[in-house]
Amino acid sequence: MHLASALLFLASLPLGLAGKDKGKPCKKGLNTLAKQAGLKYFGSATDSPGFRERAGYEAVYPQYDQIMWKSGEFHMTTPTNGMKWVFTEPERGVFNFTEGEIVASLAKQNGFMLRCHALVWHSQLPDWVTATNWTAAELRQIIVNHITHVVGHWKGQCYAWDVVNEALNEDGTYRDSIFYQVLGEEYIKLAFETASKIDPHAKLYYNDYNLEYPGPKVTGAQNIVKMLKTAGIRIDGVGLQSHLVAESHPTLDQHIDAIRSFSSLGVEVALTELDVRLTLPANATNLAEQNDAYKNIVGACVQVRGCIGVTIWDFYDPFSWVPATFPGQGAPLLWFENFTTHPAYHGVAEALTNKTTRGRARRAQLRSA
Ligand code: XIL
Repeated sequence: MHLASALLFLASLPLGLAGKDKGKPCKKGLNTLAKQAGLKYFGSATDSPGFRERAGYEAVYPQYDQIMWKSGEFHMTTPTNGMKWVFTEPERGVFNFTEGEIVASLAKQNGFMLRCHALVWHSQLPDWVTATNWTAAELRQIIVNHITHVVGHWKGQCYAWDVVNEALNEDGTYRDSIFYQVLGEEYIKLAFETASKIDPHAKLYYNDYNLEYPGPKVTGAQNIVKMLKTAGIRIDGVGLQSHLVAESHPTLDQHIDAIRSFSSLGVEVALTELDVRLTLPANATNLAEQNDAYKNIVGACVQVRGCIGVTIWDFYDPFSWVPATFPGQGAPLLWFENFTTHPAYHGVAEALTNKTTRGRARRAQLRSA
C-alpha cells in the first residue's frame, strides 16, 4: 500500500478503530508481553534477503531489519525456507547449509532463539527424492542420512526441530507422500528416532496446519504422538501452524480445546506459522475479523498451560507467502506495507496481556488444571 492510499484507508476506518489503533506498535513489544504472560517467546519467521517474496524490496530492509531484530517485538525466529530438503541436500549425499545459515547466523548475532524447519516433508523436495522408485531399505537410508547431516550441522542451536511436517490429510489419514508410500508410518518413527539421537537437546515436533480446532485431523495428530510414545520414541511437541482465515476463523474455545487435546498427552504446543489471511482489499470489516482471529488464537495459547510460544510467519505483509499461494488473499500479518501496524497487532498485545474474554480467573484455572 502506498502512503497516500494508506492514509485514505486509515481515514476510512471507524473512529473507534482508527483512534485506538494509531498504527503504531506498543512500547513494550510483543516478546516482553509474551514473557509476562508466561510464554517462552514471541517470534517471527524470516527468509534470506533478496530471495522469493523479498526480491525487489531491498529499499525497505533497514526498516524491516530494525523491527525484526532490534525492536524487542520478537525473540525467536524460524527460516521460512533455508533449512528445507531442497536447499540442504540438493543432490543425494551432497549437503549445502548456505541458505539455512543465513537466518541461523542472524539469529545467533541477535541473541534470538531458533526454531528449525523442516526435516521430512512432502513439499520442497529436490527431484532426486521424488523421481526414483526407492526400495524401503534405500529410503530408510536416505532419511537417516538426511537427518543425521542436517540436525548434526545445527546441533545445539535449535530450540526445536519440526521433524515431520504435514503428514496428515484433512480426514486424519496419512498423506500419500513418497515417504508414506514406501515406508508407511515407519518413516515417522525413523525420523524422530534419528533426530533424537543426533540432537538430544532440541525439542522434537510434529508440525501441521488445521490442527487449531478439534476434528479428525487433530485426532490423527494425537495418534502420531501416541504411536511414538508407545514405541518409546521421543516427541516433545506439536506445532500448530495456524494459517487462519479472517472471514471464517475458529472460536477461542475451539482453540483451547485443540491445544489441550495435545498438552494432555504430555507434549508441549507452539503456534509455529501464525498468519490470518483475508480477501483483498483490506477494509475495516475484514481487519476487525482478522483481529478477532489473532486474539482468539493467541489468547488460547496464553490461557492453556503447555502452549509455550507463538511465531508469526513473517511480520511484514509484502514478505508473506499468502498472495502467491492463495490468489486474491493477503495482508495476513501484523505490519502493513507502509510499516504501520494492523489493528490485529493490538489484538495480539491485548491477548498477551490477558484482557481477552475469559480473563485471569479462567487462565488461573487452566494453568492449575
Ligand atoms: C512457505 C514459504 O513461506 C514460502 O516462501 C515457500 O515458497 C513455500 O513454503 N507450511 C509450511 C511452510 O510448513 O514451510 C510453508 O512456507 C508455508 C506452509
